[in-house]
Amino acid sequence: MGKFTCNSLFRKKSIDIDDTNKEEQLARVLGMPTLIFFGVGGIVGTGLFSITGIAASVHAGPAVIVSFLIGAIACGFIGLCYSELAGMITVAGSSYSYSYIAFGELIAWMVGWNLVLEYAVGAGAVAVSWSKYMLSLLEGFNIHLDPRFIASPFEMVKLSDGSYVNGIINIPSTFIVIILSLLLMKGMKESMTLNNVVVVIKILVILVLIAFGIPYINPHNFVPFIPENTSGEFGHFGFSGIMQAAGMIIFAYIGFDSVSSTAQEVKNPSKNIPRAILIIISICAIIYVAFAFVIVGLVYYTDLVNDAAPVATAIDHTPFKWLQPIVKFSIIFGYIPIIFLLLIGQTRIFFSLAQDGLIPKFFAKTHKKYKTPCYSHIFFMVIICILSAFFPMGVLGNMCSIGALFAFTFVCISVMILRKTYKDYPRTFKIPGKFIIPTIGTLTSLILMYSLNGLTWIVMLSWVGVGLMIYYFYGYSHSKLNRNIMNNSSEFSKQLNS
Ligand code: ALA
Repeated sequence: MGKFTCNSLFRKKSIDIDDTNKEEQLARVLGMPTLIFFGVGGIVGTGLFSITGIAASVHAGPAVIVSFLIGAIACGFIGLCYSELAGMITVAGSSYSYSYIAFGELIAWMVGWNLVLEYAVGAGAVAVSWSKYMLSLLEGFNIHLDPRFIASPFEMVKLSDGSYVNGIINIPSTFIVIILSLLLMKGMKESMTLNNVVVVIKILVILVLIAFGIPYINPHNFVPFIPENTSGEFGHFGFSGIMQAAGMIIFAYIGFDSVSSTAQEVKNPSKNIPRAILIIISICAIIYVAFAFVIVGLVYYTDLVNDAAPVATAIDHTPFKWLQPIVKFSIIFGYIPIIFLLLIGQTRIFFSLAQDGLIPKFFAKTHKKYKTPCYSHIFFMVIICILSAFFPMGVLGNMCSIGALFAFTFVCISVMILRKTYKDYPRTFKIPGKFIIPTIGTLTSLILMYSLNGLTWIVMLSWVGVGLMIYYFYGYSHSKLNRNIMNNSSEFSKQLNS
């Protein structure tokens, strides 16, 4: 191992570096419409269909609408930062690659490491929500499964005799993770066709629900709009509740950032990625605010406690009960692109980390025929199956939010650093107003992180600790930049000796 020096921890990559091994190149198959479908399809899901209920009933009340707005505004600022960087740096790796160029290796590694929380843990959360809607759909057809096998050991489930027991394992969530991982291993193009069909159905169902629900909104359900925080506990209604709900709701917007992580697979990336990110965030923000307004307008917020399927409850408050199976079916299929997007984002980040030598090379190996990082897919398939089998959705969702916000913070600061260090470097998109937007993006990310609960912070800090150890024992010495430095210095000694 080379000697640890403060400088070497901050060794940086050059912006022009495109050190992808030719054998490990991914195919460029994604155009602008596919990117938008990929983005919207991969974003709209569990955050809206499941977390809206938890956020409203426990944290924000009807003001969950405000939380969705705060989330949208925050993601708008952050999205602008991603757009500037994605228009400058077109190698894969997204926030990880941006941090490598702006901050140097240690911070880049920590960002890449925390993206596991966003992508892999996030995929686990969606898989758990998928299993709950699946259970609800089957029950609608009078098919009753043993609920202990669709719940983690940390959840209570009601048995047919009316008693409550702890869950054992969530089997259906592992099933969906395995199927989708296998599909992705086979190749991106085929998966995208399926993705586009599913996205259209999902968006149609959301629009139908909004249109059918609006006439049945009960204005009394909006009173009190911001329930009072009577317990004094942070995050339990009042202003802190709105903020904690906004932190959770970041999960609902996650996905826009992984559009930039597909830079190696996008046609004309420097133009298409920034435009796609902004369009995607705007579409999602409009859908979310309208949808949240309809849900809390139809159901009084206290009736949404412990409701993993608030959409089904909202439909029960309209005369259109026949919509139930159609909607649940669409949600179940609508989750597929989200899991796809998170799995793709995860494997591509590990692809970049492995290419840089920070984790074993094995994660950058692509399949000879399909050109996909299949070994990485197998590895994460196993990890995500374990997560979704044994942990509840709320815990996984919050982990995903904090991991994403960690990366968002460094992305916003990177914009400011690169404006100084790469002042005249060509940018296809430059955020107006100097540092105002990146500063607001940084502050909102930090505030939303702060708003998340203590358990989420404990897990995140432990994760950071593990990441630092891996870097100390493996990444630092195996890093490509370290090897370059070592090779250069041994060349230099050879020259001196000869
Ligand atoms: N944004 C994605 C969802 O809400 C992760 O499911």
